[in-house]
Amino acid sequence: MPRLLLITSTTRPGRTGTAVADWALGLAREHAGFDVALADLAEIGLPFLDEPDHPSENAYIHEHTRRWSKTVDAADAFLILAAEYNRGITAPLKNALDTLYSEWAGKPVGYISYGMSSAGLRAVEMITPVAIALGMTPLPDVVTLPLREVLDADGLLVPGERRERSVYALLEELRRYSEALSQLRKPAAA
Ligand SMILES: Cc1cc2nc3c(=O)[nH]c(=O)nc-3n(C[C@H](O)[C@H](O)[C@H](O)COP(=O)(O)O)c2cc1C
Repeated sequence: MPRLLLITSTTRPGRTGTAVADWALGLAREHAGFDVALADLAEIGLPFLDEPDHPSENAYIHEHTRRWSKTVDAADAFLILAAEYNRGITAPLKNALDTLYSEWAGKPVGYISYGMSSAGLRAVEMITPVAIALGMTPLPDVVTLPLREVLDADGLLVPGERRERSVYALLEELRRYSEALSQLRKPAAA
C-alpha cells in the first residue's frame, strides 16, 4: 500500500494546526487508500538547517536530519497542512523542505490550506515553486479552510461535509498520482 505523509506547517503553542491535523488524519485513515503517517513539525523539532553539505549530497552528519530523511523517503505522497503567515509560507515548513532534497522527488503533493483573509492560498502559492524545485508534482486543486467560517464560537474546527468530500477527492487524486509517479521513480533501464 502506498504511504501518505501528512506534514504540519506550524509549531506554536495553541496552534490551529493541531485541529487541522487531527481532522485531516481522520479523513485520510477513512479513505483507506494509503498507509497514513503524520509528520508534526512541532514534535520533530528540526533545527534550522545545520548540515554542512547541500542536501543533494545525502551526506547528513546529524541524527535529526537522518531521521527526517528516512521519514520523507518512506513516503509516496505528501499532504501539506499549509498555514499562512504574513502572506506566505511558514518558516518551519520552508526549513523542513530545504533540509532534504532527493527524498521529495517524483512524488505528488496536495494541500489543505488554512488562514484568515485568503484561507492560506497565498502560502500555497509560495510553497508550490519550492515543491517543484524539489521534484514534487503539486496537485492543482487545494482544499481551503477559511478560519472565520470553519471555527465555531468556541474555537472548534467545523469544516463541514462539503469540505470533507473535497478532502476525499484530493486523497483519491494523490493516490492516482502516486501510482503513476511511482513508475518515474523506478531506476531507468540500462
Ligand atoms: C505570525 C502570524 C502571521 C499571520 N499572517 C497571516 C496572513 O498573512 N494572512 C492570513 O490570512 N492569516 C495570517 N495569520 C493567521 C493564521 O493564518 C492563523 O492564525 C492560523 O491559525 C495560523 O496557523 P496555526 O494556528 O497552526 O499557527 C497569521 C498568524 C500568525 C501567528
